[in-house]
Amino acid sequence: MDGSVPRLNSEVFSPYSHLLRFIETCFSLAICTQFSSVRIGMVRVYGLLLFLLVLVLVSFGEARPHDEQPLSRIAVHKVQFALNPSAYVKATPTLLGLEGENIQWVTLVYGSPNPSNDDWIGVFSPANFSASICPPENERGFPPLLCTAPIKYQYANYSNSNYKDTGNATLKLQLINQRADFSFALFSGGLSNPKLMAVSNIVTFVNPKAPVYPRLAQGKTWNEMTVTWTSGYGISEAEPFVEWGPLGENQMRSPAGTLTFNRNSMCGAPARTVGWRDPGFIHTSFLKDLWPNSMYTYKQGHKLFNGTYIWGQKYNFRASPYPGQDSLQRVVIFGDMGKAESDGSNEYNDFQPGSLNTTYQLIQDLKNIDIVLHIGDICYANGYLSQWDQFTSQIEPIASTVPYMIGRSVFLLAYITCQDVLLIFSYCLPW
Ligand SMILES: *[C@@H]1O[C@H](CO)[C@@H](O)[C@H](O)[C@H]1NC(C)=O
Ligand SMILES: *[C@@H]1O[C@H](CO)[C@@H](O)[C@H](O)[C@H]1NC(C)=O
Ligand SMILES: *[C@@H]1O[C@H](CO)[C@@H](O)[C@H](O)[C@H]1NC(C)=O
Ligand SMILES: *[C@@H]1O[C@H](CO)[C@@H](O)[C@H](O)[C@H]1NC(C)=O
Ligand SMILES: *[C@@H]1O[C@H](CO)[C@@H](O)[C@H](O)[C@H]1NC(C)=O
Repeated sequence: MDGSVPRLNSEVFSPYSHLLRFIETCFSLAICTQFSSVRIGMVRVYGLLLFLLVLVLVSFGEARPHDEQPLSRIAVHKVQFALNPSAYVKATPTLLGLEGENIQWVTLVYGSPNPSNDDWIGVFSPANFSASICPPENERGFPPLLCTAPIKYQYANYSNSNYKDTGNATLKLQLINQRADFSFALFSGGLSNPKLMAVSNIVTFVNPKAPVYPRLAQGKTWNEMTVTWTSGYGISEAEPFVEWGPLGENQMRSPAGTLTFNRNSMCGAPARTVGWRDPGFIHTSFLKDLWPNSMYTYKQGHKLFNGTYIWGQKYNFRASPYPGQDSLQRVVIFGDMGKAESDGSNEYNDFQPGSLNTTYQLIQDLKNIDIVLHIGDICYANGYLSQWDQFTSQIEPIASTVPYMIGRSVFLLAYITCQDVLLIFSYCLPW
């Protein structure tokens, strides 16, 4: 990526720009704990009807220690192969997203001849996680047997507490479309001394490369909205665009730019090593000259060079009011939300189950929200890149409908550069 990614929207000129600056001031003084009704120009902003403004003291106030990303508990470099012919893992269904879904549940059935409460299931994607795909830079004198962390994991006894007696169990896991196929592996020896006992069949989405998880951001001018999304289609394969227009009227098309980043642009381990996962392609399109207050529809498209179109789902948003127009704008501001898995996986030390409550609450109340400011410490991916897709999937219902403005944070920058955040969200508030 060599530092050439433009700062797409480092300034917002819209009814929100004063608010953003006000918050920035509060944030830098770290004295602002709550405010309920701020009169800014002609636009009355009733912030925080839903949430108290959670302003972290600038340092690491609320942030958890770095090693608490659940995936970091797994000693990936210590994995030993102990394949056991009578251990097994079976996953069904094998083909996901038959009706266009990007999220689906799978059921695992597994068993072991020497069951223990330490046994766990790791979800790998791509499914082929054999040592032969290790890049040379990951070697430490000897090649590790496993060179990638799972994208999530769960204890084998999670749904059947008597697993250690019966030796078999079932488990339901939720998968999201993340541009690659999946496999499930049964390990013994706990997280700190993992021994691979069995690997499942492969499970895949019908179109793993499908355009997914659109996130909106208020553009550089009040009447512009940006749409950013992720797909598996690079520009050598297809032309990305957004088909959009006023609700119920003729739709037009706007081109999108395509960016990505590679392993070498990561600052260090684990992002560069076991936490690395191909981020796919991130596309951004600029929808301009919006009419104030109007409803719009949009969907992401990719035109393959043989003429075939690949479509995303259809979404709606409401355009910003005219600056100064007397209007009620409802702004939700929070920080440090984190992410969690609704199937209960990765819940080492209760990592961030509350983030699901926050997300669900926002979705329930979406019709009463005009813009969301997520002021930093986004998903605590901490160098495990799979977590970014999971986060953009978690917030999809919100971010695809109202502008979702991201602020970077000190914590985040230690693992991934703000340029990479900019890339994933096309917007990074300047604090
Ligand atoms: C896994 O990937 C390696 C390296 O790309 C390849 O040699 C091997 O055949 C693959 N295995 C399967 C089962 O696809
Ligand atoms: C399941 O295994 C975990 C990890 O070893 C353990 O903490 C938990 O107590 C076990 N649950 C039951 C019901 O035995
Ligand atoms: C475990 O295996 C036994 C015998 O095959 C079977 O009856 C039982 O339903 C299985 N339990 C689970 C949780 O799969
Ligand atoms: C174009 O290519 C895609 C992907 O390779 C394929 O699925 C599709 O059938 C092709 N369409 C035509 C018209 O050949
Ligand atoms: C958060 O969500 C979980 C799961 O839906 C629920 O059990 C819990 O009560 C919720 N917590 C709060 C504080 O609402």
